[in-house]
Amino acid sequence: MSLQPAPTTRRSFIRHTALAATALSASRVLGANETVRVAAIGVGGQGTGNAKRFSKVPGVEIAYVCDPDTVALDRAKKTFPNAKTTQDLRHVMDDQSIDAVIVSTGNHWHVLAAIWACQAGKDVYVEKPVSHNIWEGRQLVAAARKYNRIVQGGTQQRSDPFHDELKAYLDSGTLGAMKYVRCNHYGMRATIGKRDTPLAPPTTVDYNLWLGPAQDVPILREKFHYDWHWNWNTGNGELGNWGPHILDDLRNVVFRDKVSLPKRVLAGGGRYGWDDAGETPNTHFLYYDTGVVPVIMDVHNLPRQKGMKAPDVYRRRRSSAFMIIECEGGYYAGGRGGGSAHDPEGKVIQKFKGDGGGTHAANFIAAVRSRKSSDLKAEIEQIHFSSAWCHLGNISWQLGQNADLDTAKARLKDFQPWQEVIEDLPAHLTANEVTLKPGDVKVGPILEIDAEKETFIGESATPEALALLKREYREGFAVPEAV
Ligand SMILES: NC(=O)c1ccc[n+]([C@@H]2O[C@H](COP(=O)([O-])OP(=O)(O)OC[C@H]3O[C@@H](n4cnc5c(N)ncnc54)[C@H](O)[C@@H]3O)[C@@H](O)[C@H]2O)c1
Repeated sequence: MSLQPAPTTRRSFIRHTALAATALSASRVLGANETVRVAAIGVGGQGTGNAKRFSKVPGVEIAYVCDPDTVALDRAKKTFPNAKTTQDLRHVMDDQSIDAVIVSTGNHWHVLAAIWACQAGKDVYVEKPVSHNIWEGRQLVAAARKYNRIVQGGTQQRSDPFHDELKAYLDSGTLGAMKYVRCNHYGMRATIGKRDTPLAPPTTVDYNLWLGPAQDVPILREKFHYDWHWNWNTGNGELGNWGPHILDDLRNVVFRDKVSLPKRVLAGGGRYGWDDAGETPNTHFLYYDTGVVPVIMDVHNLPRQKGMKAPDVYRRRRSSAFMIIECEGGYYAGGRGGGSAHDPEGKVIQKFKGDGGGTHAANFIAAVRSRKSSDLKAEIEQIHFSSAWCHLGNISWQLGQNADLDTAKARLKDFQPWQEVIEDLPAHLTANEVTLKPGDVKVGPILEIDAEKETFIGESATPEALALLKREYREGFAVPEAV
């Protein structure tokens, strides 16, 4: 089954202008006991999970399922036999009986799908990162405001009650003043292969619709679904995958949403141990200057040791720890669903146990009913900022020059945690049988950011850097300049 090709720019312009004009009248006013009719857009791994989670929220019906891959649609149909199905999300936008959409597509589609939904008078739950680049993230925030929509980001840990306990604990002063925060994601990934001839999309996929805003470039990885994360055309690498969770926790818990974007960002790293079609780094270290508490982030996708099925560990602290808040009188180390406070010797002095954010879908539905964005735990603007931190870290790396670890260290001589994250790297790489040669470490510039304008300033505002704040959109699938 294949639908019509994408409309031309002009047709889509007319269509979406018309949609926008009817947006407010199209949205239903829901009675307190009325069913919220939800469409699941994208039902791969996470989209299937999201649809199931939403279907368990009282008063919610998964009424429409959309995916350009008929295999995904057929699978979803087994769970939601009464739902309408389509390969084309524009059909969902046209259905006035749909109140809200869940966008769980690849990252390159998040903003456009969400903006179309806002224009069509629907509320939106959009997966993280909520954008594929910073400019379009701001466009989504503008659309949410213009069409008065309820828009929640998929950083579910914002709904975890333990974060409030943790904030109160940090405010109590038991750990003393914060010195710096270390954010880690030590996970494990495998090589994605490298083909000589482009991969043909599965015959069950309407590729035009799958591609949407992304460029039609040859796919040289082996697997079609999921591994789009590791190509810039469609994904944002591991920093854009786990970073939105971790940096969102940081912005929420440490900065209480008062630091929108950092003042400066610096990144280094590379893609080591694999000779494959992936473009994004699998080893990525970063510094964020917030003007308040400095932040180091470290991402490892290689295991603790070559062949070992275990992720790397950070100084005997839990490898799954997202965030280590180093304070004058001890530290906090925690991840999704909980953490612990420690004295300077490492002894646990307080434990925190959360639920991993299990009520996030219910929180969104409650706000859909109340019509108050302020009821949302992960209102789109905050998650736009958290996603933007990841994009900024990727941009510094993308602009990097082929150098070495000493060059990276010299970028920030006086900040010991930066020196440490680099000094620890050779042992990790050696354990993975990776030997660095000169030029193997990409070291980015320190990028200065105007947080208000969401752009680079001073010497950082080069054409190359500015170009990476946005992307070239494929015809018919451009995120609109004016929403
Ligand atoms: N919040 C979380 O904890 C969490 C966890 C995993 C993934 N995610 C996010 O969820 C998103 C999806 O990840 P995934 O692991 O399910 O990827 P995936 O590749 O398994 O699934 C993506 C699905 O979207 C479909 N799709 C592509 N274009 C579409 C379109 N135009 N309309 C409708 N569907 C379309 C694909 O065909 C595929 O079935 C990603 O952005 C990811 O970052 C969030």
